[in-house]
Amino acid sequence: MRPDERPARSWRALLLPDVPALWVPIVEARGPGGFPYRELPLDDVDVVLWWAMDGRRTLREVADEADLSWRAFTKRVQPWIEAQAVLVGSRSWRRRDPRLERLIAPERPANARPSGQWVDGATQLAEFHGGIDDADSRFDRAETTLAHVFQDPHPALAGSRWGERLAAWLGPAQDVLQIGAGTGSASSCLDDRSLTRLDLSPALLAAQAARAPRSTGVLGSATDMPFPDASFDAVVCNEVIADLTASPSAGDWLVTPEPGQRLFNTGTFEALAEIARVLRPGGRAWVSEFGDIDELPTETTQLDHPEVSIHFGQCAQVARSLGLLAEVQRVPEALGLDLSARWLWRGSWMALRARWPDLPARAWTSETVPLPERVENLLDVTLREEGPGPLPGRFHALLLTRSVT
Ligand SMILES: C[S@@+](CC[C@H](N)C(=O)[O-])C[C@H]1O[C@@H](n2cnc3c(N)ncnc32)[C@H](O)[C@@H]1O
Repeated sequence: MRPDERPARSWRALLLPDVPALWVPIVEARGPGGFPYRELPLDDVDVVLWWAMDGRRTLREVADEADLSWRAFTKRVQPWIEAQAVLVGSRSWRRRDPRLERLIAPERPANARPSGQWVDGATQLAEFHGGIDDADSRFDRAETTLAHVFQDPHPALAGSRWGERLAAWLGPAQDVLQIGAGTGSASSCLDDRSLTRLDLSPALLAAQAARAPRSTGVLGSATDMPFPDASFDAVVCNEVIADLTASPSAGDWLVTPEPGQRLFNTGTFEALAEIARVLRPGGRAWVSEFGDIDELPTETTQLDHPEVSIHFGQCAQVARSLGLLAEVQRVPEALGLDLSARWLWRGSWMALRARWPDLPARAWTSETVPLPERVENLLDVTLREEGPGPLPGRFHALLLTRSVT
């Protein structure tokens, strides 16, 4: 540490002024879900020093302002630098210097894969989904979706809920099938229609029924639907298809493989065939997920089960081969999600959740997040950056219509 270096607060460290302490990640203990955190105790002088480290003053200037000898000062500050709660550099720092958001840490390890989730090179998750029983907490803790974090009215949706935007996209359709409805937050916005919910998890079906009491729940799979042909005016399948089987071969499906492609979204192709079958002529379907028009299907390794991103171009190819009209649109544009709206930066959110594991995952900002004690150094960013939910710009929707002829 040299007196002419300039210290700046890492965005990864939070100040807990009521304790007082810094709340910092334990970088060497990184797990699949992120970092564990610990408190670095502070006294009142430390709090003044912390705020003085604004990226402009030198270390010497900060020590002098607090009237501390260089030796006393470095003794206080050294542990913060070691914990990467403070970074030092030779020049002034910009507020969003990328180094203030990163940690020098081991690679994030992959989550364990219980046997049976991969069989002969293909994902098999029917048993996993059938066994989900933590309906209330699963989407807050383990598998946060966009529909989940935007389940309450939000400025990014001009005061609407995600489910209301889905309902608006469906138009006047009356007989609606919702595939994989999770906790039922969007189902509650479709409950004024004739709504059927199809899911593999009895616990999630029960949670959905509580939120959409007029609707009908059916236990079954998107890839083998227990419904007659032409049963529905519309189908909604929001953030489900990454869970369906991805296989090492495209089999007989009419897709053009990409060079080097090792996985194909075959479960989604099967679901599309079922959607084509159960839709009435003129009916519409919304099928959204993470992935891109030409993205090679890739496993997400931090979850407790292997989700595989979607190659939307190939899904559209399959949908067309099934006689559907198919268009791919980015989800923010399709639903009118304003990406310039703000939410908590993901690093801030992870730090809060490490302290309060029961905090529900919502598209909070530093102003709206309900905290039991004061927290400072939280960062808000636009929805173009990762927040409490996944990155909206990563999501696409396959917009399908069954032609009338
Ligand atoms: C990631 S969650 C998404 C929940 C909700 N649609 C949302 O956007 O928040 C996936 C949902 O699909 C269900 N699911 C997974 N595989 C399924 C399948 N093959 N058939 C029907 N539902 C399935 C899960 O039980 C869960 O309700």
